[in-house]
Amino acid sequence: MKFFEEKRKEVMGHIEKFMLEKMNEYLKPIDTIWQPSDFLPDASRDTFFSEIKEMQESARGLSYDLVAVLIGDTITEEALPTYESWLTMVEGVSDNEEGGWMKWTRHWTAEENRHGDLLNKYLYLSGRVNMRMMEVSTQYLIADGFDIGTGHDPYRNFIYTSFQELATNVSHRRVASQAKKDGDTLLSKMCGVIAGDEARHAKAYKYFIEKIFEVDPNEAMLAFEDMMRKKIVMPAHFLREVGLKIGQTFGHFTDAAERLGIYTAIDYVDILKELIEDWHIESVTDLKEDGEKARDYIMNLPNRLLRVAERMKNPMLEYKFSWIYG
Ligand SMILES: [Fe+2]
Ligand SMILES: [Fe+2]
Repeated sequence: MKFFEEKRKEVMGHIEKFMLEKMNEYLKPIDTIWQPSDFLPDASRDTFFSEIKEMQESARGLSYDLVAVLIGDTITEEALPTYESWLTMVEGVSDNEEGGWMKWTRHWTAEENRHGDLLNKYLYLSGRVNMRMMEVSTQYLIADGFDIGTGHDPYRNFIYTSFQELATNVSHRRVASQAKKDGDTLLSKMCGVIAGDEARHAKAYKYFIEKIFEVDPNEAMLAFEDMMRKKIVMPAHFLREVGLKIGQTFGHFTDAAERLGIYTAIDYVDILKELIEDWHIESVTDLKEDGEKARDYIMNLPNRLLRVAERMKNPMLEYKFSWIYG
């Protein structure tokens, strides 16, 4: 076990150098990147109330399921304290407060923080949301934390975050296009810029894993296999509403997303395929016997999952969320 941890730390120190060089490619300068207020009515202006009126009129056209998905996405973003504290516990991250990994964690968190901030303000102004109910769910989700099966292993964690950033990219992008169809162009723009951030973050985490594969291919392959066997769970899997038990709302949220085609079992497979391709899983060399077996498992997984996904029925059960009026 000791050896395992030492080796992970050594690899983290190695990638840190590349990460520091590349960090500015994956994160944007703070002074010029978009901020929530770029998209929201300015309360100091005379037009404030008429702009809110317009917002509310467009928001009225959003389907019930879309509002539900948007709220679930927002709560997921708002649980950022969970993700930040989790990242600092990853082996090799918090050894040095001023080191590259802590710097990365802070800067990534700072970018992510804008997502929940923007969506929360939008939902508040939209007039469609019972904010108290949503806030209770948010507080619960942060208090409940998550269980993503990575332990403190950087390999498993960065595989998880690579997957998850791609998944949030898909989800925000689809909400953007659905919102546009429903006539809410402002919301569409908001989700579009958030999706753009997620895509950059995904590139960063994928790059970290790419570097890990270069120096520790066998362990990286085993970590990838392990995460896929456990299945990548969404960070909001403990989602609940007032009066409900831990995790009881999560299935209704994913059902709504599945129904609308915002994030589906097919998307899960597509993300897996993208990772397999980007990390050149097929041509990784220097694997031991267990690493080879892990690769076989991973390479066969997309087709297996596709067969399962094809047999899945679209969830029909409608559910009444406490978050949404009407
Ligand atoms: Fe985000
Ligand atoms: Fe993200």
